[in-house]
Amino acid sequence: MGGGGLTEPERVRRIYDRFAPHYERRGRWFKERYIVPLRELVIPRARGRVLELGIGNGETVPLYRPGQVDELVGVDVSGKMLAFAREKLSSRGIPFSLLQLPLEAVDFPRGSFDTVVSSLVMCGVDDQGEVFSRVRRWLRPGGEFLLIEHVRGRGAVSGALCDLLNPIQLRVAGCELNRNTFAVLARAGFEVEVLGESFFSIFRAAVARPPS
Ligand SMILES: C[S@@+](CC[C@H](N)C(=O)[O-])C[C@H]1O[C@@H](n2cnc3c(N)ncnc32)[C@H](O)[C@@H]1O
Repeated sequence: MGGGGLTEPERVRRIYDRFAPHYERRGRWFKERYIVPLRELVIPRARGRVLELGIGNGETVPLYRPGQVDELVGVDVSGKMLAFAREKLSSRGIPFSLLQLPLEAVDFPRGSFDTVVSSLVMCGVDDQGEVFSRVRRWLRPGGEFLLIEHVRGRGAVSGALCDLLNPIQLRVAGCELNRNTFAVLARAGFEVEVLGESFFSIFRAAVARPPS
């Protein structure tokens, strides 16, 4: 349980419902410099039936290729963030459905998706290992898990700063700055290929493949 007796997803929902009207503009300079280039490395790989975890306001939507993506299923706990995603998707020419649910509450039959995407979401989920094992099950053979994530800095200073600022980030944004997400992903059995890094290697884009 999070603070005030709320479950973690409920706490996240409140935070992002509040952020939603400002999310696009907030930190735009930083996003364009350090995050958009990483999204551009991985999102255009998405193909077939695609699941995006924590799709938020749909900032990845312009990078999906109609014709290559047959269908997009987006999940997010915040209805206010999803309203912006819906607006972007409605003019994109990709069949879509959006589910307002905590990730912890969704499940799909084995092998439902060709691609699963997560952009800046695994920093906040309660149990990354559990989410990764479910993603493994949901992917079809040959499928890819595309991730953009911020993780604990590798350097002594950047690592220590991530630790120091973590409690503030957790309270304000509902996520953690000092996770080793890609190591957890590898422990969950994925073969991880990091395609790009930015901002002192804290932000990384990767394609992860379950063993064949
Ligand atoms: C930092 S935003 C990222 C949004 C978008 N993916 C992007 O790259 O800009 C995190 C998003 O994940 C959603 N989220 C976080 N934890 C979640 C959970 N447990 N279940 C469903 N959605 C969650 C939040 O509501 C928010 O929209």
